[in-house]
Amino acid sequence: MTTGTMPTVEAKTATMSRRHVLDLDDFNKAEIETVLDSAEAMRGVLGRDIKKVPALRGKVVLVMFLEASTRTRVSFEQAGKMLSADVINISGSGSSAEKGESLLNTALTLQAMHADLIVIRSPQSGAPYFLARNLDCVSVINAGDGTHAHPTQALLDLMTMRRHIGDLAGKKVVIIGDVLHSRVARSDIYGLAAVGANVVLSGPPTMIPLELLRGTSEHFPASVTVEPNLDKAIEDADVVMALRIQKERAAGGLLPSMREYTRRWQVTDARLARAKPGALVMHPGPMNEGIEISSSIAHGPGSQIEEQVTNGVAIRMALLYQTLAGAAHAGPMGVEL
Ligand code: CP
Repeated sequence: MTTGTMPTVEAKTATMSRRHVLDLDDFNKAEIETVLDSAEAMRGVLGRDIKKVPALRGKVVLVMFLEASTRTRVSFEQAGKMLSADVINISGSGSSAEKGESLLNTALTLQAMHADLIVIRSPQSGAPYFLARNLDCVSVINAGDGTHAHPTQALLDLMTMRRHIGDLAGKKVVIIGDVLHSRVARSDIYGLAAVGANVVLSGPPTMIPLELLRGTSEHFPASVTVEPNLDKAIEDADVVMALRIQKERAAGGLLPSMREYTRRWQVTDARLARAKPGALVMHPGPMNEGIEISSSIAHGPGSQIEEQVTNGVAIRMALLYQTLAGAAHAGPMGVEL
């Protein structure tokens, strides 16, 4: 489309009836597929010359990041702008949070300005839930809270897998590394369980939740297992996902040394050879290249790491659209984007 008018496309997708997106632990398969289908329609917009549609014209989206981010922050901003929302960025530094204003008072202030939606990343687990409980007329999307959840990352991971291997039921997804501190792993586990995939966790025992190591978990889905030996874990995997070693969260003493971690847990060519031919390699980013993943794997033919980033924009467009316009304004047959 190269004319001067706004491009339009019919997105014939079902709609989601949630005001907030806080985690995937209460999403079922149908809801996840609704979001992924909607994101596929959004990817069509991403591929156009004019990457802008009027779907959220007049809506105000606040992107509040109280912790560092490149992928999530930029993709939410890009997603909002491509849907014609007014997007306002807020960070901890430079806002009145620096003067000691509480999260609640900050959020009530933003609500009083008639924001429609707050995207929040916070180092505090539970911060998005706190906002969702205390704001009457603002939607909340969790962009990562402490070590708890990162639902939009998990949805983009599911989208990336589904685009390459179709139905994920019965597929083997190996997640490697610092599961204990990883909000990505936690949300991925719930999302993958909902669509019927089998998740195998592998990593240093000090970085796997104790209840999973002991096989006594009442919180995690039954389809999740632990295999401490990475060479065994990776056998016949459809997807191999390395997690970032979180130097900012991993307390000292959990690892003998980075060198030892690299020797035992790095995803290498030799290890990947044990997975299914053509297995997908994924990483949520940012990578410690040469630590949890070798450079040849990170940039090799199986790597989906850059596609994950592209799909992240589409997923965030879908979630902004579904929470702000989807249920309330779209008919069941879809809406003109
Ligand atoms: N995966 C992820 O959340 O990356 P950012 O911290 O760059 O947003």
